[in-house]
Amino acid sequence: MNTLSVNLGERSYPIHIGSGLCTQAALIPEKLLKGKIVVITNDTVAPLYLESVLSGLRARGAECMPIVLPDGEAYKSWETLNRIFDELLSHRCERKTPLIALGGGVIGDLTGFAAATYQRGVPFIQIPTTLLSQVDSAVGGKTAINHPLGKNMIGAFYQPQVVIADMDTLRTLPPRELAAGLAEVIKYGFIRDAEFLDWLEKNIDRLIALEPEALAFAVERSCQNKADVVAGDERETGERALLNFGHTFGHAIEAGMGYGAWLHGEAVSAGMVMAARFSEKLGYIGKADVQRVVDILARAKLPVAAPELGAARYLDLMGHDKKVEGGRINFILLKKPGAAFISNQYDAAALQAILSTPKQTHA
Ligand code: NAD
Ligand code: GLY
Repeated sequence: MNTLSVNLGERSYPIHIGSGLCTQAALIPEKLLKGKIVVITNDTVAPLYLESVLSGLRARGAECMPIVLPDGEAYKSWETLNRIFDELLSHRCERKTPLIALGGGVIGDLTGFAAATYQRGVPFIQIPTTLLSQVDSAVGGKTAINHPLGKNMIGAFYQPQVVIADMDTLRTLPPRELAAGLAEVIKYGFIRDAEFLDWLEKNIDRLIALEPEALAFAVERSCQNKADVVAGDERETGERALLNFGHTFGHAIEAGMGYGAWLHGEAVSAGMVMAARFSEKLGYIGKADVQRVVDILARAKLPVAAPELGAARYLDLMGHDKKVEGGRINFILLKKPGAAFISNQYDAAALQAILSTPKQTHA
């Protein structure tokens, strides 16, 4: 097992990465295991991992209360949040009752927001079970539910006390979900870690084949990148926005195609290609750099061609993004592979051209 740290002063916390960690309640601070502890998961993950997690906790003397929710992004909602509150209140959960998120980003975001708001905040633990949640959503304290008018629109920054990433859980992950997680892994290479990008280009096939050593390295390196960014800019006033590379286009694809049609990571993949092409059009990178983005994403079995929604629809959808300030969209562009920057200074005609021909994947 390797342990990284997210350094946020008194809100610092460890990220444990390794195999067989799900059952190791010893990784949870002793003080959180004294009374009741709530494990929130869904009906896909529960049959796979809930019993192991509960037995580890019970062996340490905790009184466990599982809450099993329906699976799906559609349940990252106000109604599900209320259902969690109903259960917590009817079982007299207190201000010290920890909530454990056992699942992917949907469960993590929902449980985190419940933990941030129940009785003004209870301890929160992340046990992420998808690649995307291990390398991205479980780290950094962004929690949220969706609103019918926008994704992740109601939420809070609320850091967990510990993140436990068990590589073994990735073995049951559907290949499409694994690829979606790889999009976020590849993102770190392009935005700030050229050495990791080189490694990914050599080792992407090992990740797809779920080679344990390669997976653990990729998760660690991704978490280290995320931890560094979050430590420097917890509330996204600057550098943290770099993590949104491909996301402004990606969120428009997710919303425009109807939530659930494209996985988040798939939309981010096509979005990163659009962001790279936009960077090229604005003169920051060359054709070969764009091709590098396309090639590695295609090798990870991710979509590199965005759907044709029409420029007007893209612009309308992107206008709802949280990255909009004073009517201008903040784009994350590439200076070179391994270095991204934020800019709202762009030529509208260049953007229009990218949005009008989204299917063109080659420069
Ligand atoms: P998800 O939570 O929907 O999980 C994907 C699917 O895999 C689900 O069907 C889930 O039940 C299943 N699953 C989970 N673990 C499994 C396992 N080990 N074996 C088999 N199946 C398993 O999706 P996700 O990609 O993990 O997360 C996407 C969500 O995360 C979105 O809501 C997105 O907005 C959010 N997100 C949040 C942040 C953040 O910083 N908070 C960052 C990125 C994404
Ligand atoms: N997933 C982007 C962030 O955590 O800031």
